[in-house]
Amino acid sequence: MGEGAQMPVLESKARQGAQFERNRSAYTSLIETLRDRHRRVLQGGGEKLQRRHRERGKIPVRERIDHLVDPLAPFLELSPLAAWELYGNEVPSAGVVTGIGVIAGTPCMIVANDATVKGGSFFHETVKKHLRAQEIAFENRLPCVYLVDCGGAYLPEQDRVFPDRDHFGGAFFQQCRMSAAGLPQISAVFGGCTAGGAYIPALSDEVVMVRGTGRIHLGGPPIVKAAINEIVDGETLGGAEMHSTVSGVSDYLAETELEAIAKLRDIVAALGWREGRRTVRRETRPPLYDPLELDGIVGTDLKQPYDVREVIARIVDGGEFQEFKPAYGSTLVCGFAWIHGEPVGILANNGVLFSESAVKGAHFIELCDQRRTPIVFLQNITGFMVGVDAERGGIAKHSAKLVYAVSNARVPRYTIIIGGSYGAGNYGMCGRGFQPRFLFAWPNARIATMSAEVAATVVTDLRRASLTRGAADEEEIARVDRETRAQFEAQSTPYYATARLWDDGIIEPWQTRDVLGLALALAAREPDLPESRPVYRM
Ligand code: COA
Repeated sequence: MGEGAQMPVLESKARQGAQFERNRSAYTSLIETLRDRHRRVLQGGGEKLQRRHRERGKIPVRERIDHLVDPLAPFLELSPLAAWELYGNEVPSAGVVTGIGVIAGTPCMIVANDATVKGGSFFHETVKKHLRAQEIAFENRLPCVYLVDCGGAYLPEQDRVFPDRDHFGGAFFQQCRMSAAGLPQISAVFGGCTAGGAYIPALSDEVVMVRGTGRIHLGGPPIVKAAINEIVDGETLGGAEMHSTVSGVSDYLAETELEAIAKLRDIVAALGWREGRRTVRRETRPPLYDPLELDGIVGTDLKQPYDVREVIARIVDGGEFQEFKPAYGSTLVCGFAWIHGEPVGILANNGVLFSESAVKGAHFIELCDQRRTPIVFLQNITGFMVGVDAERGGIAKHSAKLVYAVSNARVPRYTIIIGGSYGAGNYGMCGRGFQPRFLFAWPNARIATMSAEVAATVVTDLRRASLTRGAADEEEIARVDRETRAQFEAQSTPYYATARLWDDGIIEPWQTRDVLGLALALAAREPDLPESRPVYRM
C-alpha cells in the first residue's frame, strides 16, 4: 500500500435511530459494570493493607508504575481482572500488575507484584499472568522491568503453581531466554522476596534494591531456622545493603523507592534501545465515524444482526477500507486498512462461516502474509455452517484451510472478540489457542464451545440416550436442561474468561482502535520476515 494513496471509504448507514438508542442504553450498563470492576481491583488487598503498606514507606503498585513511565505516554494494563471472582475475590488482578509502558522513550513490559495481595505471592493465575506478560515481551521484543515485592509461591496453592511446565519455573526459564535473546531484564526490589520471589531479581541483568524494605533470600528466616537451625533476622540475611556491598546480588542501593524508580529509568535510558521500521507508516487519520458509537451499533443481543463494516468504519483511519472479494463469501468481510497510520488486513465476521467465506479468509491471510501486513480478526462467530449441504460441500476441509492459514501466517495477528466466540469459529478466527499477539474482548462477548441453548439440547439428548445411567424421567431431563444452561451461561461471560487469562483484558469498544494502534506500532519495529511466500488461490 503506497504512502498517501486514498482507499475507498466506508459509508455508515447505522447511526442514530430507535434501534441504535436501544442498543446504546443496554450497552451502558455493561460499561458501568466493567468500570466498576476495574475500580474495585485498583484497591488491591484493601484499605487496611494499603495503609500498612504506606506506613512502611512503600508506594502502592500502580503508583510505582505511574512514577516509572513517561508522563502522558500510554500504559496498556493487561488482564486487570485476572482471578476475578476466584478465591472469594481476594486476589485482585491476581496480585500482579502487568502492562506495556514507555520508560525514557522505550516501550517496555512492566511486571509489578502487589504486596498488599497475600504478600505478592503467586497463585495459579498470577503465574499465568506473569508468563503471559513475558510471552508478549518476547514476541514484541520489549525489555522487561520487574517491580519485585513477592513472597514466592502461595503455599496452599503450591501444586498449581510450582511443578508443571507453565508454572513458576517457566517464568525464570523465560527470563534466561529473553536475556540471551538480547531483551534486557531489569529488576527493582521493594519488599521481602523469598524463594521464587528472590529468583526474579537474581535472574535479572541489573538489579536495584531499596534500603530498609528490599530483601532477597532464597529461604527467609523461618525456612533457615527449619532447615539448618540458624537464627537470623531478615535484614542481616538478605537486606539491600548486604546485597549491594557484600554479596553483589544487587547492583545499586537506593535510599527510597522513588530513587529506585529513578534508577530504573536511568538504566532503561542507557540501553540505547534502537527502533527500526519494517512497514511503511502513513500519517494517522481519525476514524470517519465516532468510535463512541460502537455500543449503539453492536448492542448487547448477540442474535441481533448488524453489518460489521459499521464497526470497521469506526476503528480504521478515515473509514478507508479496501475490501477483498466483496461479492463472494460475504459472511466474512476481509480488507486492507490503516489503524493509527499502520497498515492492517482485517477479517471480520458478518454471519456464520460457509465454505466460501472460509476459503476467502484463507486466501486473504496469504495475501497479508505475502505483503507483510499484520492481521486483525474481529471475532463474532457462532461457528461454521452445519448440515447436509454444508458437509457435502466440504465444509470440514474448507474450514480447515482457514484454520491452517491462521496457524501459519507469519505476520503479527491480533484478535478482538466483539461478540460471540463459539466452536470452531473461535479457531478459524484466531482464538487464544492460535496465539494471536494480543487478544482482547468487549464486555458483550461470549466465549464457549456453544451457546447455552444449544448445549442444553445436546446434553439432554445425551442423557436420554445414556446406556450407563438408565432411563431418565422428564423431571431429571428438566433438571439437566436447567443445570446445563446455568453452567454455560456462567462460563461464557467475558469475566469468566478474563479471570482465567483466556484473554489479555476486557476493553471498551471505543478503545479498540487505540489498543490496536499501540500493538501494531510495537510490531512495526521488528525485523522483516525471512522470505515471501506465494499466494495459492483457494
Ligand atoms: N504463601 C502463603 N501465604 C503467604 C505467603 C506465601 N508464600 N506469603 C505471604 N502470605 C500471606 C500471609 O500469610 C498473610 O496472609 P493473611 O492476610 O491471610 O494473614 C498475607 O499473605 C500477608 O502477609 P504478611 O506476612 O502479613 O505481609 P508482609 O508484607 O509483612 O510480608 C512477605 C510479606 C512475603 C515478606 C512475608 O509474608 C513472607 O515472608 N512470606 C513467606 C515467604 C516464603 O517463605 N515463601 C516461600 C515460597 S516457596
